[in-house]
Amino acid sequence: MTLEQRIEQEKIGRQDLRGDPITGDRYYSREFAAKEWEHVFTRTWQIGGMSAQLAKPGSVITQAIGQESILMISDEDGTIRAFYNVCPHRGNRLVAEEEKCGVRRMVCAYHSWTFSADGMVRHVRDAEDYPQGNPVGKLKLKEIRCETLGGMVWFNMDPNAPSLRDSLGTVAEQFEAYQTANWTRVNWLTGLVDCNWKIIHDNFNEAYHILSLHRELGTFIDDAYQNTTFELYKTGHNQMKMQGHQPSANSRVNVVQAPLDAIMREWDLDPEAFNGRVSETRVAIQQQKRKLGPARGHLHYAGVSDAQLTDYHHLTLFPNITLTMSCDFFQVLRPMPHPTDPEKCLFDHWVMMPPVAGRDEVDTPTGKRKFEPAPHETFMHGEASIGFVADQDLSVAVAQQKGLHSRGYTDAYLSGQEDRVRRLHDMINEYIEGRR
Ligand code: FES
Ligand SMILES: [Fe+2]
Repeated sequence: MTLEQRIEQEKIGRQDLRGDPITGDRYYSREFAAKEWEHVFTRTWQIGGMSAQLAKPGSVITQAIGQESILMISDEDGTIRAFYNVCPHRGNRLVAEEEKCGVRRMVCAYHSWTFSADGMVRHVRDAEDYPQGNPVGKLKLKEIRCETLGGMVWFNMDPNAPSLRDSLGTVAEQFEAYQTANWTRVNWLTGLVDCNWKIIHDNFNEAYHILSLHRELGTFIDDAYQNTTFELYKTGHNQMKMQGHQPSANSRVNVVQAPLDAIMREWDLDPEAFNGRVSETRVAIQQQKRKLGPARGHLHYAGVSDAQLTDYHHLTLFPNITLTMSCDFFQVLRPMPHPTDPEKCLFDHWVMMPPVAGRDEVDTPTGKRKFEPAPHETFMHGEASIGFVADQDLSVAVAQQKGLHSRGYTDAYLSGQEDRVRRLHDMINEYIEGRR
């Protein structure tokens, strides 16, 4: 069966949505957050970091999730394993850093128990003084599932979960078409935001807000729902395919505006020649990218379709990851539940870019950056930019969090183009109520 046929088989329709109420308590109740943790986050695949961070043997990274910290380490042979980041002696957090290289042994700061990359205890002081037996070669860090895909390392705390590929279904292949294995994370930002994680993820599950919050995107992204393809999959993941490199049908503007004009010039097209026929810019740019791209160092264009040369395909993974795919960059947009407060979340924004011959500087949502792996920047929402579009999204998040407490709010009243919001909440209930 072709990929297209399998995608068709994987799709569900609006009639398959349960339409469970989206009540306010889902966004602030501690009890509900505890259920999400127990039934959703400990059972689904999460991204732990970039494969490039673990390319050298003895590299270690950690990823916080809820009250857990997961450590991932590459051994001498390049095998990557993931463990709960906790010392089995008395429960101290084993690795404090987020990234570390050249680690021969992991040593706990408390009593210096020492572990190898396979998680085994290798050295303990006063080893003879353990009535229940020497822990060396006997005790081990608790290992969890770990896989790599698309240049990223993924983990899952559920020992019985399907493999990452099985769980992603055709989304894995659709993602892999972009050949992101060697892309570089040029932005690595995390903001602490005063809203529940779902407020942000709901936002990425619809484009209905573009005309209100991101009006300027309409100069080069067509956000009209009539021209957008929405796909819901049985797996719980979904996709939104937006046509790009042409003005929005909602904008009713028939001249080429910034930044589309500059992009057209970059691809040797005269933007003024398209005034009055702006619906033709997209295909014209596709043709130019196809023709000129490889010679300009964009070798990965060979793997993508014409549509993918210009369009924005948002792959939204259950429960909390959005991959905004384009052939020139993609973002990981990921609100993580706060460890203790359901009215806060940690919002991760990563930007990945492909290697292009001669590339040493890139434009990112937070300005020009060197084309190299970015350091992690963390801040409170409002203290720094998390990217100009994401800032606009967050501009309503805190007010919405407050509003969802109101006695005046009972349930969402969703449009068809917000089906993916509906699906997220249905899926959370599927997990919590034990149907998955
Ligand atoms: S808690 Fe780690 S060595 Fe004691
Ligand atoms: Fe948005």
